[in-house]
Amino acid sequence: AMKQFIDGLMQKMTLDEKIGQLNLLTPGGGIPTGAVVSTDVEAKIKNGQVGGLFGVIGADKVLQAQKLAVEHSRLHIPLIFGSDVIHGHKTTFPIPLGLACSWDTALIKQTARAAAEEATADGLSWAFSPMVDICRDPRWGRIAEGAGEDPFLGSAIAGAMVRGYQMNDLRKDNTVMACVKHFALYGAAEGGRDYNTVDMSKIRMYNEYLPPYKAAVDAGVGSVMSSFNVVDDIPATGNHWLLTDLLRNQWKFNGFVVSDYTSVNEMQEHGLGDLQQVSALALKAGLDMDMVGEGFLTTLKKSLQEGKITLNDINNACRRVLEAKYKLGLFSNPYRNVSASRASVILSPDNLALSRKAAAKACVLLKNNNNVLPLQRKGTIALIGPLADSRRNMLGTWSVAGDWQKAVTLKEGIEAVAGNSVKIVYAKGANISDDTVFNKKVNVFGTEIDMGPQSPDEMLQEAIATAQNADVIVAALGEAADMSGESSSRADIGLPESQQRLLAALVKTGKPVVIVLFNGRPLTLVKERAMATAILDVWFGGTEAGNGIADVLFGNENPSGKLTASFPYSVGQIPVYYNHLNTGRPYVLGGPTKFKSDYLDIPNAPLFPFGFGLSYTSFNYSPVQLSDTILTNGKSIHATVKVTNTGNYDGEEVVQLYLRDEVASISRPVKMLKGFQKIFLKKGESKTVDFTIDAEMLKFYNNQLKLVAEPGQFLVMIGTNSDEVNTASFVYKQ
Ligand code: IFM
Repeated sequence: AMKQFIDGLMQKMTLDEKIGQLNLLTPGGGIPTGAVVSTDVEAKIKNGQVGGLFGVIGADKVLQAQKLAVEHSRLHIPLIFGSDVIHGHKTTFPIPLGLACSWDTALIKQTARAAAEEATADGLSWAFSPMVDICRDPRWGRIAEGAGEDPFLGSAIAGAMVRGYQMNDLRKDNTVMACVKHFALYGAAEGGRDYNTVDMSKIRMYNEYLPPYKAAVDAGVGSVMSSFNVVDDIPATGNHWLLTDLLRNQWKFNGFVVSDYTSVNEMQEHGLGDLQQVSALALKAGLDMDMVGEGFLTTLKKSLQEGKITLNDINNACRRVLEAKYKLGLFSNPYRNVSASRASVILSPDNLALSRKAAAKACVLLKNNNNVLPLQRKGTIALIGPLADSRRNMLGTWSVAGDWQKAVTLKEGIEAVAGNSVKIVYAKGANISDDTVFNKKVNVFGTEIDMGPQSPDEMLQEAIATAQNADVIVAALGEAADMSGESSSRADIGLPESQQRLLAALVKTGKPVVIVLFNGRPLTLVKERAMATAILDVWFGGTEAGNGIADVLFGNENPSGKLTASFPYSVGQIPVYYNHLNTGRPYVLGGPTKFKSDYLDIPNAPLFPFGFGLSYTSFNYSPVQLSDTILTNGKSIHATVKVTNTGNYDGEEVVQLYLRDEVASISRPVKMLKGFQKIFLKKGESKTVDFTIDAEMLKFYNNQLKLVAEPGQFLVMIGTNSDEVNTASFVYKQ
């Protein structure tokens, strides 16, 4: 039926109308997500020159724009409405990097579901999410938007999000089409500088960077966004190997591909030719929709006349865009999602409760000396720091529809959760950063800063005085929300100096200091780790951040998050990631260092490894039991551990399974995550956790890029993080 309908429609379409479908515009007016906005949008819609819009927030505005297309364009073809629904819509959830630390794919799926519920009630049909770019360089600000450094976890999360958005049924009034991005390798920008060159071997791509995009495709993602960077020196947006050979032919993707914001035009800067040339190249490569830049709109007709592209190229792209609209049911009901009755899902009590829960589940406890956490509900707590009462900084990057004024600050959360038996005293203590440019209003991170009436010294003195009579200091430190995200790379990823000074002064009081760390990326925290009594990493928690964090601080929730990106010791250690290859001269901790692969001045190990996160309770792991020491094709073996909650609190634990292929035709990582289970254990309780291992799990892309499992010995490692594991081994025989 779909084919018949679209065949019929396309027969009626002029060439211009077909090209019009390939044009995605943004009228501006909301939060800008690129350097230019579209002009004459209304006239273009009426003229049949627009296939879709994004950046239109609010059901009434969507309705208005849809009417222009449906009532005033010649063929009444509805528009598709997209948006950057990244971690929630109006109800904002933790930034994706934080949410990933929950390792809770059911929860993550639920947040995508809630986001789709709200986005559709606002008239949207298309979410520019999930962002699944593997990243091993925390200088890159967009690490905040992804799941971290691991392809296995990243793939699980990619699939969960696609299913949450799409629910395998795009015709429902509460599902959106997902758009996996940024295809591909955007997270591997050299030097962590956004939009920079990427250079990677195919073998690394296949084994380590491509799996999450593939997982999204396998989960049925409806669309793909190409990335800004080059892949094998050809911009992704015009890369035929990437968009056609790999994506469509090998992976069997049958949805449509949209460019990133003006990424067709930017191929000129990459040195691939003028706008006509690069637009033709992009279309031929397999790009279907051109975001904002209008290269397709203004040049494809000419290219067709000059024989640089074929009508078939245009027809294919047009068909794919129309198919997406058809799958969404837009032809039968262009206003499918816009109804007053659905508006109540936006910021509903259920969604806010989910936001609060997610904010708590994202928290990673990095240090907790003397069990200073959970905080006791007595005495005086000094809440100090520039992020303690900072509503603007709770949502994090990419919350285009989220209203920061509705966010709960840490101070409000603590006041609400602590109860009457605790006294809370507060001082700001420092600005997020004093590093200003141009004038005192904007700091180097672009953050508009309200320096307030006090000088840095006055603030510091006030903080010290406030802390003096407290029993414990809670120091809310870290990054401003816009220090991570797009175009927010940092070369120094430490705590800004203003806050280091504050922390040192607080520690000097001799009181226990609990750092509540707000951040969009792993930070270098060597001094902070040494100085603080406890560190709770809370990322940017979303609308209910303050409440969710307070739940953790006071023990209503036991932290169970685990890092999904290694925290480097220093910037010079980057890239540092757990699943690296061995070298020919590996340094063994405690062994000789000369002629070994190491640094003279820092350790090889990161400050906090992948998978790391403490709990208020403690867990004991038994040795690993294997049901067999030989694995053959078509069979499986079981690896089990008994995990016991040996501490004083009920709690959740993420049990992690890693494998190592000891001998293969290529060098293989020292460890690869291949399974995880999040379990809940009451205090004193034990559970046996069972992982099934089969030959499928052993597969990798060999030097010929063939997916193979090779016979030989494998290590099985199970533990509480990538560094602390118990080990057993088996032999795989084909
Ligand atoms: O979806 C985003 C993308 O992630 C970065 N550039 C702009 C797009 C649309 O806002």
